[in-house]
Amino acid sequence: MPIVSKRGAQAPSSPIRKLVPLANAARTSGRRVHHLNIGQPDMETPAVMRAALAEYGETVIAYGPSGGDVEFRNVLFEYYRSLGVDLQPHELIVTTGASEAVHLALATCLDHGDELLVPDPMYANYLGYGGVLGNRICPIPTSVETGYHLPEELEAFLTPRTRAVLMCNPANPTGAVYSEEEVQRVLDFCVKHDLFVIADEVYREFVYDGDVCRSVLSYPEAVGRAVVVDSLSKRYSLCGARIGCFVTNNEEIATAAMKLAQARLSPPALAQVVASRASRLPSDYFTRVKREYRQRRDTVYEALVGIPGVTVHRPEGAFYQMARLPVEDAETFVRYMLTEFHRDGQTVMLAPAAGFYAAPGAGRDEVRIAYVLEQEKLAQAMWLVEEALDQFNG
Ligand SMILES: Cc1ncc(COP(=O)(O)O)c(C=O)c1O
Repeated sequence: MPIVSKRGAQAPSSPIRKLVPLANAARTSGRRVHHLNIGQPDMETPAVMRAALAEYGETVIAYGPSGGDVEFRNVLFEYYRSLGVDLQPHELIVTTGASEAVHLALATCLDHGDELLVPDPMYANYLGYGGVLGNRICPIPTSVETGYHLPEELEAFLTPRTRAVLMCNPANPTGAVYSEEEVQRVLDFCVKHDLFVIADEVYREFVYDGDVCRSVLSYPEAVGRAVVVDSLSKRYSLCGARIGCFVTNNEEIATAAMKLAQARLSPPALAQVVASRASRLPSDYFTRVKREYRQRRDTVYEALVGIPGVTVHRPEGAFYQMARLPVEDAETFVRYMLTEFHRDGQTVMLAPAAGFYAAPGAGRDEVRIAYVLEQEKLAQAMWLVEEALDQFNG
């Protein structure tokens, strides 16, 4: 029998999805499972976007340009202009979600064996993509005690193989929103050591104590070294459309990324038609979305603060809450909630946080909670977590 490649065999399982079979079994046995393990917003995709599918008039769903269809690209250029970023046409490639943009970013900025510095814990799929491409993901440790903000000093993490810093801002899974001073510090470090800065800004609007997160593209120090990974998945509750973009102000990176984009032919046609409708949304769209998520954040945070032995920091953005639990191994606890525990026929699925860390052994007693359900269900879910902890710890 032929055998699987090492990189295929060694690719990490998604910490978000790997316990899904247990959740399915719990549901089959009649239990209701509150899913707080995955960042899938429950909010309706705006009606004007859904209507685009019904109104689609083409008789052939054809390939389009590799960089994206003109209409959708224009919507994106206008959106970036509203953020104070004027893009040249070659600087943007429409992608199959931010996931493809992450892949393009790592494939064009780093060679096999090169190192990428990333605040730890991180969005778990960076580890998967980096591993497959042969990049070394080097953690910049952050912790609940400092709200998962960046250390003052980055020099200690530098090696001769460091090629880039990847910063997710606002951050998944920690909810940290890096201040302009922190971003500036990262940029100064990148300028000093001639590194790329890759910024994952898919949660740009989800900032609860301010307005919108400033894009790295708007900093003068980022010129020629920035790659932004972006997505409409969270912004418009469009996860299943699989639509996002890759933006860079480095011409060589743009040229290299376009070659890879041409190899996969074109981004999804129907998703671009749907996503183009973003230009028709009312100007207060994000105000309402943010208000809802801010309230959810408060519901979850305040409930967790009241649970004995739980350590949390109030998230500033995105829609995730990290929590250190009074257990030795959070994955065992999550499994327990899905297999043994229930109250009133209900239980909760959380994401064990160890899989979000690059540092071996880190985060074993932590979970990530995605506050993607309405407040009443969140409050119920937090009560279930408290009950489960009580029972689990005897
Ligand atoms: C930080 C971050 N980057 C990228 C992605 C991937 O997004 P997309 O659905 O656009 O592929 C996610 C999805 O959860 C994410 O949280």
